[in-house]
Amino acid sequence: MNIAIVYSSGHGHTRTVAEHIKLGVDAFPEAAADLIEITIKQIGEDGRWKDDAILNRLSAADAIVFGAPTYMGSAHGLFKLFLETGFTPWLNQDWKDKIAAGFTNSASRSGDKLVSLQQIAAFAAQMGMIWVGVGDAPGGNYVATRPTDVNLSGSWLGLMTQSYGDGTAETAPHPGDLLTSQRFGRRIARTTARWTLGATAFPALPVSESESRRRNIAGPAEWDRFDD
Ligand SMILES: Cc1cc2nc3c(=O)[nH]c(=O)nc-3n(C[C@H](O)[C@H](O)[C@H](O)COP(=O)(O)O)c2cc1C
Repeated sequence: MNIAIVYSSGHGHTRTVAEHIKLGVDAFPEAAADLIEITIKQIGEDGRWKDDAILNRLSAADAIVFGAPTYMGSAHGLFKLFLETGFTPWLNQDWKDKIAAGFTNSASRSGDKLVSLQQIAAFAAQMGMIWVGVGDAPGGNYVATRPTDVNLSGSWLGLMTQSYGDGTAETAPHPGDLLTSQRFGRRIARTTARWTLGATAFPALPVSESESRRRNIAGPAEWDRFDD
């Protein structure tokens, strides 16, 4: 299984999270993570994100994990430019039925990180992907809470990690969040294994945007001619 982890990071903290998700993926039998960083160098003169080699690597993946720091209450602008280029694979529903998951990192415990995860989850839904959330119980609900607790933020839509503003990419996020990141990677690998085992019997049946429009013009009976 090929599990792509595609992310952006302004100062390295979100990269640290991505690397720990990779550790969790790589520890799972027959799974390998492909770490892909979105950078400013991939932005063209027209201000759009474009990198065909990265798009090819994503097309080849069984699962894609999307991650960005939360900046000003939503996902890092650089990462948003990458998401907008998803319009190209969207046209033919190329990523349909791939497993998807998301993560975000920021300085505050909340910091409005939920907005970034919702943004990424809506994108994955538009791409016809199958969303996987965090599977761990909340670690921060009790008096005995410690920074080594798993799922300290109590987030399930996707992985939330906190990097204190005065921590470096080496010292932040804190240990519990890094452990949660690894567990998240393993959960995605395991879910992808369960999903791909049935893929031969039930392959993805993408319907392109133009084919969908053709059928709508032909009328409702046209849709009955297909099994998708
Ligand atoms: C422009 C900017 C906006 C930010 N906005 C938020 C925010 O809305 N919420 C928050 O908790 N932290 C915010 N932060 C802090 C970052 O999320 C935090 O430093 C994070 O660890 C950065 O990750 P990175 O090193 O991968 O870029 C912001 C930082 C910057 C530079």
